[in-house]
Amino acid sequence: MNTKSLGRLAAGLLAAMALVAATVALGSSGRDDPPAPAADNFSPYVTKDGVISRPTDYRDTFEYLGSYAVATKPDRPLDEMHVVYARPEDIRAYRRDGKFPDGATLVKEVTGIGSERLTTGQSHWAADVKLWFVMIKDAKGRFPGNDLWGDGWGWALFLAKEPARNVATDYSSDCRTCHVPARKDDWVYVRGYPALKK
Ligand code: HEC
Repeated sequence: MNTKSLGRLAAGLLAAMALVAATVALGSSGRDDPPAPAADNFSPYVTKDGVISRPTDYRDTFEYLGSYAVATKPDRPLDEMHVVYARPEDIRAYRRDGKFPDGATLVKEVTGIGSERLTTGQSHWAADVKLWFVMIKDAKGRFPGNDLWGDGWGWALFLAKEPARNVATDYSSDCRTCHVPARKDDWVYVRGYPALKK
């Protein structure tokens, strides 16, 4: 075999290997796998098309930001606990820079409430999780024209009975109006989060 045909053989082998690699990669992107992250490694919870998935690891890897106890109906007892988490690096960046960094991920867990007279007094605690609100900071406006992205954030809502699907469809009607009072704080109700204070 001369050098030229050796070269051709090597090229052929390389092409075959590339084909195998591509097939393996394709095979692993089956429907049950987590969606591929955005190209610039923006967020592990966002695909390149801006689809947001629920951070299932938040209780292991996120830190507690703070909580709100809420009576959702006028003149009725507390009926929800809102417990908010963020990633440690987001909290560190906020304390340093006074703002949320690109990719910052906020999870608000909404639970029912248990209440009983304990030895401390009338005590309330977080019962079963009903749903999760998620906000993901996008400082670069990556998803123009996507109704779940705007005002510098991606917005999502997951229900406990179907936790893998974002049921929000348009943040401007599903989320934005309610967050207008927090606009000056980048749409986040920071007053309830002692972990953000220096
Ligand atoms: C009924 C009004 C209302 C709606 C609708 C609403 N929010 Fe909120 N949200 C609030 C308020 C008020 C807080 C903070 C106080 C609390 O939870 O009681 C909050 C807090 C949050 C938090 C915790 C971080 C923060 O901003 O303080 C996230 C995350 C969040 N909302 C995401 C969303 C998303 C995503 C949507 C739409 C799918 C949405 N919210 C819709 C009123 C609302």
